[in-house]
Amino acid sequence: MSHGSTHHDVLPAFARDPEVADLIERIVARVEALQTGFTGARPADPARKESYDAWLSRNGGVRGRASLYPYVGSGAGRGPLVELADGSVKWDMINGIGVHMFGHADGRMVRAGLRAAVADLVMEGNLQFNADSIAIAELLVAEASKGSSIRHAFITNSGCMANESALKVCQQKTGASPRVIAFADCFMGRSTTMSQIGDGPAYRQGVVQNVLVDYMPFYDPAMGERSIEMAAWHLEQVIHRYPGQHSCFVMEPVQGEGGFKVAPREFFVRLMTICRKAGIPVWADEVQSFGRTERMFAFQMMDLGEFVDVVTIGKMSQVCACLFTEAMNPKAGLLSGTFSSSVSAFQSGLEALTILRDGGYYGPDGRNARLHAAFREHADRLVAAHPEWFPPARDSLGRAQPSLVGGVGGMMRLTPFGGDKDRIMKLLHAMFDEGVIAFICGHGPYHVRMLAPVGVMEPAHMGPVFEVIERAFRKVG
Ligand SMILES: Cc1ncc(COP(=O)(O)O)c(C=O)c1O
Repeated sequence: MSHGSTHHDVLPAFARDPEVADLIERIVARVEALQTGFTGARPADPARKESYDAWLSRNGGVRGRASLYPYVGSGAGRGPLVELADGSVKWDMINGIGVHMFGHADGRMVRAGLRAAVADLVMEGNLQFNADSIAIAELLVAEASKGSSIRHAFITNSGCMANESALKVCQQKTGASPRVIAFADCFMGRSTTMSQIGDGPAYRQGVVQNVLVDYMPFYDPAMGERSIEMAAWHLEQVIHRYPGQHSCFVMEPVQGEGGFKVAPREFFVRLMTICRKAGIPVWADEVQSFGRTERMFAFQMMDLGEFVDVVTIGKMSQVCACLFTEAMNPKAGLLSGTFSSSVSAFQSGLEALTILRDGGYYGPDGRNARLHAAFREHADRLVAAHPEWFPPARDSLGRAQPSLVGGVGGMMRLTPFGGDKDRIMKLLHAMFDEGVIAFICGHGPYHVRMLAPVGVMEPAHMGPVFEVIERAFRKVG
């Protein structure tokens, strides 16, 4: 019996035993039977309120502050639906900021986890590892190398560590060049270095400033062609000001935290060509965009492969990685660590990526594009039907944003209330109460952000999701 997409020879040895495999299938089938009751959002069970509130207060107490949402999962769910410990069921349109690509308790992920559970290890490392850690790195390199010179992968267990690795690779390659070029409004993770490069005042609050960053404007759709000229001018200035001092230009091909901003290919080509000429490595931070756009890598969607020297990925891949070309391959000693990741992350990541690669997710008519089209259809309808909720959203120069509905693939954005942060936060809380979990992005104007579980979400799910969203708007609008 063979179930799942992951190749037999990368399964832990005990998981290949026919009797173990059979037992695993019985558990998967039982879990699937338990899921049948999850068909849509439902309110909390009043009988569970007291114990739920107690969990929330324990969480706030032990962490030192309450979480953004009153969220404690029960550990159950089905596809895009998640059950909380108060018995409520919600549409999960943020899935751990893009991590749970297959939603909740997907049979394929449960199976991968059970296989991992019978392995000899819990965590794999850089000294001792199993075949799955090699196979996932190979899969990532095989996919990333399509149209690029990427040849190697170093696995990490967070996007931030993938980025730390990328920065070191770039610094070593450029002889310890001290400066970094990054886009305004970028996000990079929470280490002391990444929280300095990440462009948000709260990330740097109270952190010693010892990283030299030159910020570049991201593409400005209101300016169009002129924005490309301006960005190129800025970049030339920065290079002229600090010749030979930049280790890299780090770019999110689709800006995540910064507001799901996209830019045309020409914008990146222009900047990347300047970097190439100046000998500055180009690093694509795809920790958020990986897997979600119309190609597995957003740099491929824009046909930028010839320019990328380093790529970082994370979130939906379950393990994170720093990928680089042969020319960027660092000297021994630069990249290592006790853990690479858990066996369950390797097994479920491998399963997830294999399905993504082979399951019709990519291309202009792939699952990701079709899901996005369904989102736009519902979002456009909402905007047209309720202009009172959607006044123009103005940027810091007072210009109206060209579109109130945006993003690409499984990165979806909607801008109500002129992009006002407080009103959007109220809306998000109302959505949570009504049964849709989403989040915020942008730095003004702000947006409602959705990172839908692209692995399992169907375009038809957008109907009930938007019914809940509309109810929430009526409560706060
Ligand atoms: C573009 C980008 N880079 C890096 C990170 C950091 O990843 P992690 O939170 O796994 O450390 C994130 C996380 O949101 C991200 O969006």
